Amino acid sequence: MSCTCVVGLQWGDEAKGKIVDLLGNEHDFVVRYNGGANAGHTIVWGDRTFKLSLLPTGILKPHLRSVIGNGLVVYPPRLLEEIGQLRSGGINVGANLAVSDHCHVIFPYHMEEERAVEQGGGAVIGTTGRGIGPCYQDKVGRTGGIRMGELLYPEHLRERLKSIVPRKNRIIAALATGPEKPRQFDANEIGDEYLKHADALKPYITDTAKLLQDGLKAGKKIIFEGAQGSLLDIDHGTYPYVTSSNSLPGGIANGCGIPARNVTRIVGVVKAYTTRVGKGPFPTELDDGPNGIGERIRKIGREYGTVTGRPRRVGWFDVVAVRYTAALAGADEVTVMLLDVLSGLKELAICTGYQIDGRRIDSFPSDAFLLQRCKPLYETLPGWEMDLTSARKKSDLPIEALKYVDRLSELLGLRVSLVSVGPDREQSISI
Ligand code: GDP
Ligand code: IMO
Ligand code: MG
Repeated sequence: MSCTCVVGLQWGDEAKGKIVDLLGNEHDFVVRYNGGANAGHTIVWGDRTFKLSLLPTGILKPHLRSVIGNGLVVYPPRLLEEIGQLRSGGINVGANLAVSDHCHVIFPYHMEEERAVEQGGGAVIGTTGRGIGPCYQDKVGRTGGIRMGELLYPEHLRERLKSIVPRKNRIIAALATGPEKPRQFDANEIGDEYLKHADALKPYITDTAKLLQDGLKAGKKIIFEGAQGSLLDIDHGTYPYVTSSNSLPGGIANGCGIPARNVTRIVGVVKAYTTRVGKGPFPTELDDGPNGIGERIRKIGREYGTVTGRPRRVGWFDVVAVRYTAALAGADEVTVMLLDVLSGLKELAICTGYQIDGRRIDSFPSDAFLLQRCKPLYETLPGWEMDLTSARKKSDLPIEALKYVDRLSELLGLRVSLVSVGPDREQSISI
């Protein structure tokens, strides 16, 4: 019984993909338990770059079993596209992939519903537009959700669509604002299209909970690949500016059907600073103009969303936020990523507390309306000039960089097990 969870402790894009890739070989299964194609995980091997949205990063290593757990919402065209892209790049996808028959299926009307809501003003979240929220809404609402296994029964699927699609059309028409006519859908057309997808996906669709339970009984090791970041967790994140699933390790048991006690190691992943895509409060945001530090970090760190290409919002490291998520996640250790991006800055700031209504607090108010009112309180440390991208061992790092990492470790009360100084798997330093 040895299972690891790799989880982002900020607002996503902490470089979880790189860590899962580095630890993958110590395991037999690589499993996604939440989210969908809103995730974008980048893996760099020398001159090859892979960007994965739905497939676990284990898919790059055919000797590992990659599993899409029941907690995910799957858009079949995207899954097929990703499989196709990998195959054309020479990566085999076959019996090494299993997709849960209990995953909920994203249909085009989910995307349209999301578009209508996001364009409708009001409480806009700044989503990825992948139909994630509306599909999870249908899952929880029960009457409108369709699961992957249902795609394998043509008559049943057509019946379900016949009852769901007209209702969806009415909802979309009611939500639509502005001059653009809302898109309307035809149950038969969707049925035809999705039955074709079902044929292509049939070899992968299975009871993945049983697969993983049997694996555990046989002594196999599993690594769980968290998507999104803990501050985007539907329950514990900065609600309502969150995603629609449990990205924290709490999502594992439900999101793939294995008892929670099997997870024995939790690796929290953080950037050496903070980023966020989409809307919502961000106390340490560096909104300091085109010549400011925020823009500099964005450029050097190539902080543009993998899925949507949106510029990521950038800010200083927030200890208050990460202490909060590390406790929720039960992190045993942290890996500090993208440290190289901070080279060349005279001074680095770390947020160690907030001021709200004239008083200092050290705990994280995850309610967005309260967090919005928090002003960060910083301590500063000297920066370093040296380019870190060629560093391969601790002694290659300048003293200021080591002190920065040590201070993060001390403030978080967690061991830093790895420091990353570039996208490539080689650009990693065990600490
Ligand atoms: P994930 O969603 O958590 O897997 O992270 P993303 O892949 O969306 O974003 C992380 C980005 O940083 C990717 O483009 C990685 O290739 C890149 N990256 C990972 N580690 C490092 C690092 O140490 N330094 C730099 N400069 N880039 C890194
Ligand atoms: P990875 O796995 C960063 C953000 C969106 C938006 C909010 C809700 O690559 O770290 P959604 O489409 O999920 O309904 O959008 O969540 N978001 C992410 N931000 N990284 C991600 O995934 C994200 N997945 C969703 O930008 O603010
Ligand atoms: Mg990402």
